[in-house]
Order: sequence, then structure tokens, then C-alpha cells
Amino acid sequence: MQLTIEKAKTLKAKPTDESKLGFGNIFTDHMLTVVYSPEEGWHDAKIEPYHAFQMDPAGMVLHYGQTIFEGLKAYRCKDGKIRLFRPEQNFMRMNRSAERLCIPQIDVDFMVDALKKLVELEQDWVPSTPGTSLYIRPTIIASDPHLGVRASNHYIFYIILSPVGAYYATGLDPVPIYVEDNYVRAVRGGTGAAKTAANYAASLLAGEEAKKLGYSQVLWLDGVEKKYVEEVGSMNIFFRFNDEVTTPALVGSILPGITRMSVLQLAQDMGYKTTERRISIEEVFDRYDKGELLEVFGTGTAAVISPVGELKWKDRVIKIGDGTTGELSQKLYDTLTGIQYGELPDNHGWITIL
Ligand code: COI
Repeated sequence: MQLTIEKAKTLKAKPTDESKLGFGNIFTDHMLTVVYSPEEGWHDAKIEPYHAFQMDPAGMVLHYGQTIFEGLKAYRCKDGKIRLFRPEQNFMRMNRSAERLCIPQIDVDFMVDALKKLVELEQDWVPSTPGTSLYIRPTIIASDPHLGVRASNHYIFYIILSPVGAYYATGLDPVPIYVEDNYVRAVRGGTGAAKTAANYAASLLAGEEAKKLGYSQVLWLDGVEKKYVEEVGSMNIFFRFNDEVTTPALVGSILPGITRMSVLQLAQDMGYKTTERRISIEEVFDRYDKGELLEVFGTGTAAVISPVGELKWKDRVIKIGDGTTGELSQKLYDTLTGIQYGELPDNHGWITIL
């Protein structure tokens, strides 16, 4: 497949104060689009000026949510280079999500290559203030104008770019989290392991209710027994019980995070015993009572490493650590971002340099 490039005639003003970027508010001058039809497969790959889509009101994505997305970042480094973190993993995961949502597979190598060209064109948009990056959002939407429930025949793949700061306004300061005991996010056999809009839509009401109680995020329990910890929605969750660093096993209803996978490797490199297993919420509170729960943190592309300072479950509230970032969370944050920003050796071959 050929990639054509049409450059924007006028460029937008870039943000002047990178400390105010926030997350996902600003978009760059160009985007990448590729379209799919049953006759031609994926074709017509273009980098073109950022623009709004014209979509038929009957477009299937608007009715039945047949859509998937990804999230990764480009980092501006002190050596003047721009680095991507494990981009092939994102497109491989996108293909796993595509399979679950009946969306045709994409060519991973082509997409990595096209993404590199897009980021190269937009390199002046990669912010340079510590803690900032260029967030990359690949997406596929179903575009048939049709109201019967079935998989679409036509799709649009696109990538947009957004210069971002920290996902949480609190940065690396610990966040309070509400353990959701009423609503559920996903069930085994459902779409929980796919990066698809429905999982996020299903999480909104619980998130709003938790926010009213002063909690920034919801920790989801399994959808059947509401007994086992699953994930936060915007990030995977980790617990440090003494020297065991553990995260819920990927049982089909949890997003297989690329940061999650990387943190398991880094914690192992640091000499911790890492496990992926069923973790009941009772265990978390019991081990807190025994003094064995030393740290809780979330991991994600957007969230990076986000320490959790408080957990509320039913009528119990526990405060983890002393209210500051834990030792392991800090070490993992420093190591992960050190690799991403090219300041530490890339021992696992995770980095693609533009
Ligand atoms: C990411 O970390 O890239 C995500 O997709 C999470 C998103 C909900 C902000």
C-alpha cells in the first residue's frame, strides 16, 4: 500500500505554555487515514491536514459502537531524538481488539512505518517540558450507513496526535480510588479485554458517582462475584505485598496493558517476585490490616505510573503509605520514563527511534 502525503497550507499556533497542556485537548496539523472496503481491503493511506469527518447519520459506529482504539506516545529526548515506546505492540493489540469487534486486521509493519512518517512530519508538536509527550490515538470506526445489527463492510482507520501533560491533574501524587461495588465494567466472554468504546461508556456513571464522593477513579471488581480486583479503566492496577509485586491475571475481562507488561518486566529486573493472579478485594484489605500492603499503583500509557493513596470499599477506607509516592512506584516511574526519554539503556529493545 502506498502512503500519500498532503501537507496543510496553514499551520496552527503551537501551545506556548506546556505546563497547561492537560490531556487530550489540543490536536496537531495532520492526521493519517486509511479506508477499508471488501473489494480493496485497506487502501488509500493518506497523511492529510487534520479535518472533521463527514459521516452519514446512519453510520454504524454511531449506533452500535463498532470501533476500537489505541494509545501510545512519542517522547522528545535530550539527545534531540524522538522516541516511540513499543509501537508494534499497540498495533498487535489493535488486531486482537479488531478480531473481537469483527473489524478487519491491519498490517502492523505498515502502520508502524506510517506512524513514524506522521510523527516525523509533526515533530515540532512533540513537547519538550519534562513529563510531557505527544499522545498518539489510532482508531478504527465502522462506516456503513446501515441500521441492521451486523458487522460493517466499510471502515475508516485514522491516527490523530495530541501534545499532552500528565493524565491526572495531581501528576505523580497519589490518587484516591473507589472500589466499585454496584456497577460492573466487563464480564468474562464480553469485550473487557478489547480496547473498544463500549467499555469506557459502561464506566461513566460509576466514575461520575465516585467523583461526587471525592474519588478520582473507580477500581472495578469482576463482573460475576464482585470479589476479584480487575482494573481501573484508564489503567491496570498493581499491589506490592511485601516483596511480591502482583497484578490481576488477564482473565478475558481486563485490558492487556503494554505498560502493565513492561512494568512486570522492570519489577522483575529490580529483583521483585512478580505474579499475575486472582487478587480478591478481601485479600487487599486483610493484608493492609496485617501491615503487608506496602504500595498500590496504576499503570497505563496515559497514566504512566500513578500511585494510589487511598482505597474505599463498602464502608472501609484505607490509606496506603504515608501519603507520598511509594519507593517502588517512584523507582518504576523513573526507570520507565528514563527508557522512554532515552536517558536509560533500552535493554529490552522497546524503543523505536524516529
Ligand atoms: C491510554 O492509556 O492510552 C488509554 O487509552 C487510556 C485512556 C482511557 C486515556
